[in-house]
Formats: sequence, structure tokens, C-alpha cells
Amino acid sequence: MNSFLDIHTTDKAELRGMIDAARRMKNARNGQPKGTPDADAPLKNRMVALIFEKPSTRTRVSFDLGVRQMGGQTMVLSGKEMQLGHGETIADTARVLSRYVDLIMIRTFEEATLLEMAEYASVPVINGLTNRTHPCQVMADVMTFEEHRGPIAGRKVVWSGDGNNVCASMIHAAGQFGYDFTFTGPSTLDPESEALEFARAQGVQAIVERDPVKAVQGADLVVTDTWVSMHDPQSARERRHNQLRGYQVNEALMGQAKADALFMHCLPAHRDDEVTSAVMDGPNSVIFDEAENRLHAQKAVMRWCLGV
Ligand code: CP
Ligand code: NVA
Repeated sequence: MNSFLDIHTTDKAELRGMIDAARRMKNARNGQPKGTPDADAPLKNRMVALIFEKPSTRTRVSFDLGVRQMGGQTMVLSGKEMQLGHGETIADTARVLSRYVDLIMIRTFEEATLLEMAEYASVPVINGLTNRTHPCQVMADVMTFEEHRGPIAGRKVVWSGDGNNVCASMIHAAGQFGYDFTFTGPSTLDPESEALEFARAQGVQAIVERDPVKAVQGADLVVTDTWVSMHDPQSARERRHNQLRGYQVNEALMGQAKADALFMHCLPAHRDDEVTSAVMDGPNSVIFDEAENRLHAQKAVMRWCLGV
């Protein structure tokens, strides 16, 4: 039984296997209608719980659809409506759910909640985003880059903006998939140093460059995300916007990267804050491929978790 908790805690070869399986499974679907089941139905008779303590569009729909395509069934649960949101412990919730379902995906606040769920569950647990990381997103991003540009190993990825949860997973993936990573943003919003150290220990560059124009020189991929994440207090909004304005991804900044540099954003985006509409809708943007590939990448993650 494998839980998928983070990119840096999952074996490199296993991660590579999941990306390659995701691409094979995507190709095998051959553009059929979305509701068409996969020929092999690997999740036949499996029940999957999808728990959300924060809002979601992509994670919710892509996991639900992915399970159904693989012949399984889902229960989508809102944290607020569960006893979990009314004082029942995570450990007890994990043990109870393990009697009903074969796999648990949870989107939550504190990483400790995810880890406790995984510790007490007797079925695999998948991280559907915490305040700290968002590994499923970055699996889809790696898949998307490689679909468009070939191997990501040896490439240069630049993150401009807030050093948040998605950024941390991008840094972990730099170490595991072998690409160089540059963060550009204000020092108050730096990514956590453990992630940068992890990537460096795997032999790739993981650096911080305050000047966004210098940072994006030679970039193969430019990435950003919202300036205010779901776990950030709304009271911090104005301060964050003021700090981050200079790190907006716009056509001028993209013009400093390689001519064929891709643009990514996990979505939801705040158009004309962290990225301009011209970049989001421009020729180098692959944001909707990323969103689609959540489906395919997570199907591979679920199969790996269940060993099917
Ligand atoms: N990118 C992402 O995880 O989107 P949702 O919040 O809509 O799930
Ligand atoms: N950083 C964002 C990602 C949303 C998918 C958040 O945590 O709100």
C-alpha cells in the first residue's frame, strides 16, 4: 500500500513511472467522450473518499472523473459537514473511513492533518493540497511540460511571486525530476528553505534571485500562482499585492525568457494580478492542458497507490 503524500518523499523512479503511465493512459483514451470508461477498469469495485476542507474545482472534478473512468466509485465529503469539523479526531476519522473505503484523498489546511490521516488510515491517502504542498498539481505540471517540450530534466524553471504550497512542490520536483529552479519574489514570501535544500541535495540548482528580469533569463518555463492562497488571511491581501506587484508575469517579463518558454499557472488565476490575460491566453500558455492533465496524472497516482 502506497500513500502519495509529497513529491520529495516519493521515490524518483516511482514518480517517473507515474508520469509515463499517465501519458500512456491519456493517449489510450484517444479523445473519447469524458464519461467513457477505460477499457481495463482498474478501480472496479473500489470506493474512494474525496475530503475537502477547502474549496476546489479542478481537484474535485478531476479526482471524481478519474475514479469513474477507471471503473470505481466516489464519495465527495465536505470537512465542515463531517464530524471531523465538529471535534472528532483525525485519527478516529481515518480508522472509521478505512472500514468503508479503499482510498482517501484529502485537501486540508495543516500538513499535520494529512500526516495523521495517513498514519491512522489502513488504506492509502493522497495529498490533495495542504498549506505546505500540492504534489498532484506538480505531477500534472511535469507531465504537461514534457508533452510540449520533451524531458524536463536539465531545463530551467522560474517561479515568480509567492513562495507558496505549489511552489514548494515545484521545488521538490526539481530535485526528483532533475531540473534547475529559480525563485523570484520578495524576501518576506520566500519558499521554505528545506525545499530548496532538498532540491540542491539531489544535485540541481535551486536559487533565489530578487530581480525578476534577471531570474527569467534562459527560462524554459515560467510559473506563478495566486498572491493570496486559501490559507492566507484576507487581511494580508493588500500588503501581499503591494509586495508582489513587481513580480507579475506579463508579456515584458515573458519576453526575457527563452522565446519558446512555456507559461503555467495551477489556476484559479486572478487575471491581471499575478499574470496578465495576454500571457494567460497567449501562445506559450499551457494552463488548460495543466488542468486537463490533473485528471491523467492523478489516475496514475491512484493506480500506484492501490497497486492496480
Ligand atoms: N489547481 C487546483 O488545485 O485547483 P482547485 O483549487 O480548483 O482544485
Ligand atoms: N496556492 C493556492 C493553490 C490553489 C490550487 C492555494 O493554496 O490557495
